[in-house]
Amino acid sequence: MGRLYFVMFYAYILTLLSQEIPIAAYMLTSSQSIIDGKTLVSKGASFELGFFSPPSSKHRYFGIWYKPVSVQTVVWVANRDSPITDTSGALKIGSTGNIVVVNQNDSVVIWSSKSTSSNIAVENLIIELLDSGNLVLRDVRIEDPEKYLWQSFDYPGDTLLPGMKLGWKSKTGMNNYMQSWRNSDDPSLGDYTFGIELTEYPESVILTNKSIKYYRSGPWNGLQFSGAPDMSRNRVFHYELVHNPDEVYYIYKVTDPSVTLRVVLTQTSTEGHLQRFTWVNQTQSWLLLVSIPRDRCDDYALCGAYSTCEVMTEPVCQCLKGFKPKSPQDWNETDWSQGCKRETFLNCSQGEGFLKYTGVKLPDTTGTRVNRSMDLEECGVNCLKNCSCVAYSSSDISGSGSGCVMWFTDLIDIRQMDGAGEDLYIRMAASELVSESKSKGKELVVIIVIIIAIVAAMVVLALGSWFFLKKRRAKGVHEKEDFELPVFDLVTIKSATSNFAEENLLGEGGFGPVYKGKLEGDQEIAVKRLSKSSIQGFSEFKNEVILISKLQHKNLVKLIGCCIQGEEKMLVYEYMPNKSLDAFIFVSNFLFMQMKQTADCLTGKSDLTLF
Ligand SMILES: *[C@@H]1O[C@H](CO)[C@@H](O)[C@H](O)[C@H]1NC(C)=O
Ligand SMILES: *[C@@H]1O[C@H](CO)[C@@H](O)[C@H](O)[C@H]1NC(C)=O
Ligand SMILES: *[C@@H]1O[C@H](CO)[C@@H](O)[C@H](O)[C@H]1NC(C)=O
Ligand SMILES: *[C@@H]1O[C@H](CO)[C@@H](O)[C@H](O)[C@H]1NC(C)=O
Ligand SMILES: *[C@@H]1O[C@H](CO)[C@@H](O)[C@H](O)[C@H]1NC(C)=O
Ligand SMILES: *[C@@H]1O[C@H](CO)[C@@H](O)[C@H](O)[C@H]1NC(C)=O
Ligand SMILES: *[C@@H]1O[C@H](CO)[C@@H](O)[C@H](O)[C@H]1NC(C)=O
Repeated sequence: MGRLYFVMFYAYILTLLSQEIPIAAYMLTSSQSIIDGKTLVSKGASFELGFFSPPSSKHRYFGIWYKPVSVQTVVWVANRDSPITDTSGALKIGSTGNIVVVNQNDSVVIWSSKSTSSNIAVENLIIELLDSGNLVLRDVRIEDPEKYLWQSFDYPGDTLLPGMKLGWKSKTGMNNYMQSWRNSDDPSLGDYTFGIELTEYPESVILTNKSIKYYRSGPWNGLQFSGAPDMSRNRVFHYELVHNPDEVYYIYKVTDPSVTLRVVLTQTSTEGHLQRFTWVNQTQSWLLLVSIPRDRCDDYALCGAYSTCEVMTEPVCQCLKGFKPKSPQDWNETDWSQGCKRETFLNCSQGEGFLKYTGVKLPDTTGTRVNRSMDLEECGVNCLKNCSCVAYSSSDISGSGSGCVMWFTDLIDIRQMDGAGEDLYIRMAASELVSESKSKGKELVVIIVIIIAIVAAMVVLALGSWFFLKKRRAKGVHEKEDFELPVFDLVTIKSATSNFAEENLLGEGGFGPVYKGKLEGDQEIAVKRLSKSSIQGFSEFKNEVILISKLQHKNLVKLIGCCIQGEEKMLVYEYMPNKSLDAFIFVSNFLFMQMKQTADCLTGKSDLTLF
């Protein structure tokens, strides 16, 4: 009898155990749950989920946060609007085949994933936390990501992670957008949302109260958002707006796996509402890379219709050529919201044409019409034919440009983009164009004279510096006046590192290998040989080097020079045996990227925008 009891007890324990031990630590079966106090970690330990409380809150929420990041950073919350006031919460697969958060005490469902599939056997369902930070519900027999019954990536919170799609599924009409927390202690739905506006020429927008435009990125022009300078040559991450018959969405991917990036929408920040951060392991903190709006001209429609915003001018708002303030009084008092009106009204029967603007963020795309198979010339002809077409532009500027976009409403929220932006052709009365072309004639003569003078000066300069350089090239190390640092030649570096010998290899970072070497005077150096793909042009590299040298920091190894020859681009550091290799790699990986962005920013090319 005793034995029988023992066997039964043993069997009972076994069944208990089989319920308690997950099939894999990062999965949950239909018979298991995550109770408050327990967590589940993704396979590669990048993310963790469980119950948490925001910093100064006692409420309990079910969420996902970064596992390796020491400052708890929550990226997704299930029960945003229905906190649990005690520790009785649990997450499990509900009887209807949904992920549910329940109060264990009374089994009241606090939150449910509301997946819609029917005919599912609950016992085949598993919950899995993926290394991307995506919480998915799937049939244990199906691995195909397209067939997830539910995934948290379809329901973004205030954070956009790499790989998340922000935008529209045309088939279902489903729109994924981000929504801010009310404040840092309250994840309930805030006033700010960020998503894709589904016009014929889509753009991303920040809205307040889901309806009032606060910021727009400008439309996607095939390479980037029109109001956000070029990011497409960025080495660390890549983004795009995908536009096909089934979907229109924005997505970004991190190309360097050692970099942790997140985009977050906040309600309470004074620094901007949409922010991009990167995690810095060395300082154990998040570094703010970009925040939007960047300046006053990013405020939606600050200058009203038919005007342009330029940060560096005073006042920032100016009417477009041939337009005047609608309300001169308000305009004088820096209330520009009324915008501008035409000096000469359009009359289709009296002849019209277009005035070309360059380097602008294209106006609000509400009501635009796009034809992707028309070229710019056909576009102009078609716009002119239709009396209600007020402006046109290329819809895709990649390659030599293609496609046609036409505006039929007042042109709102144009801004001048420094060194970026696009061409926009605005319809004007023929009489306006005549006066325009007359003054252009005079300008042209002046411009030609100036150009001739500049070219002549440049030829003289180039010849001068060519002779000068030729004289100096003889030495191994020489200095160039616009560099504050010595420039080493390749031969010197090759001999110092025994032609990049394997035994001198100190290690390898994301941007290329680091070698130890010795200069002739016995000075030990570390040489970072940048992989060819990681750098673009000579001038960019030069800017980076100048910046790194200016920003020498006591915690970083000292940069003593650089070497540029043909495809080879190298940074030369003082070698310090007691500094860890990280110090060299760090400089050239993370910091390097930062410097580059700063340099680009200073040289007006700004990598530093979100899109
Ligand atoms: C369960 O609920 C009762 C009253 O509703 C409460 O007194 C008790 O503390 C709760 N237990 C837990 C574990 O939350
Ligand atoms: C959103 O609407 C609420 C109430 O309707 C208002 O209190 C709040 O100020 C609005 N928020 C913004 C940012 O306009
Ligand atoms: C982060 O830094 C710590 C020490 O501060 C180190 O142990 C760890 O390996 C670093 N992690 C990464 C991914 O570099
Ligand atoms: C606007 O200000 C300018 C100078 O400050 C003045 O000459 C002009 O009369 C003002 N116009 C109106 C409508 O107030
Ligand atoms: C446009 O011009 C035609 C002919 O010059 C004139 O008859 C018509 O009244 C004008 N229309 C408007 C709206 O000014
Ligand atoms: C787009 O432009 C092409 C070339 O002009 C034309 O054949 C086609 O009908 C246009 N499509 C639409 C939808 O207007
Ligand atoms: C002009 O374009 C608008 C908007 O696409 C359209 O509704 C209207 O019919 C067009 N007018 C003509 C005369 O083609």
